Amino acid sequence: MSICFLNDKFLDIKDAKISPLDRGFLFGDAIYEVIIAVNKKPFELDAHITRLKKNISSLKYPLSDQIDLEEIILEIISRNKFSKQVIYVQISRGTDSVRDHIPSTDLIPTIFVSSHELKTEFSPSSGEKAILLEDFRWRKSQIKATSLLANVIYRSEAKQQGVFETILFENGFITEGAVSNVFCCIENKIITPPLTENILPGVTRKVILNLIQDTSLVYEETKIPIDTFLSAEEIWVTNSTKGIIPIIELDGIKIGSGLPGEKYLEISKAFINKLSG
Ligand code: PDD
Repeated sequence: MSICFLNDKFLDIKDAKISPLDRGFLFGDAIYEVIIAVNKKPFELDAHITRLKKNISSLKYPLSDQIDLEEIILEIISRNKFSKQVIYVQISRGTDSVRDHIPSTDLIPTIFVSSHELKTEFSPSSGEKAILLEDFRWRKSQIKATSLLANVIYRSEAKQQGVFETILFENGFITEGAVSNVFCCIENKIITPPLTENILPGVTRKVILNLIQDTSLVYEETKIPIDTFLSAEEIWVTNSTKGIIPIIELDGIKIGSGLPGEKYLEISKAFINKLSG
């Protein structure tokens, strides 16, 4: 049994029902978060809540101050049995009485929080392959919105080509992955695109930038041209559910030595320590 939270109660996910007039369904007018819990302890919960609240306020969702999202998430972790969990939080603007692009003024946001077993082992990876595709998403990818049709297409293409991730580029520069942020290492410097590049401010990205600061490694947030990226010594992708994964082949081209690089090994060790600590 999987216990979820819907609007105002905890219930078996099999019994959870949402109206077809919910704006999340009709317009993709909804935002979400993905949070992991290891040994039933949420990882970087404050950062996820901060990003969620920022999205709620930027889209002017009328969420009551009485709702304690952190408490709901902690309760979901506790009520579900797995020691490693992935928690999904979806919040839509609410349910209209008739379909209209312009939202009614009296909406109550729909809140859905669910938990599933997280199967990731978080041990150093032997490396994965990726492909490059043009970024055709909208211009507000910093908002963690559930309108993920482009990402669905990119993920399906990755699956069809038998690779781990699709990495995106716009106007000749790398933006991010379909479900991840991107890092690379060029002339010994770790580089990631700045948050101005229509990308999601990933929680894992931030954790990794902080971990790099505790080492002798150097990093820079700057735009990455595609040809520089293809000649990088190392490429990594990062997200909450997979942690940090080295990309050893991109569009069939070997990256660096074709094996996970030294910097990846150093940072992923520090990341795993932080996760378990
Ligand atoms: N996605 N960029 C995109 C487009 C993402 O979808 C994600 C994560 C990230 C990394 O963000 P974070 O480190 O906060 O997980 C970057 C999640 C895992 C998902 O949609 O399932």
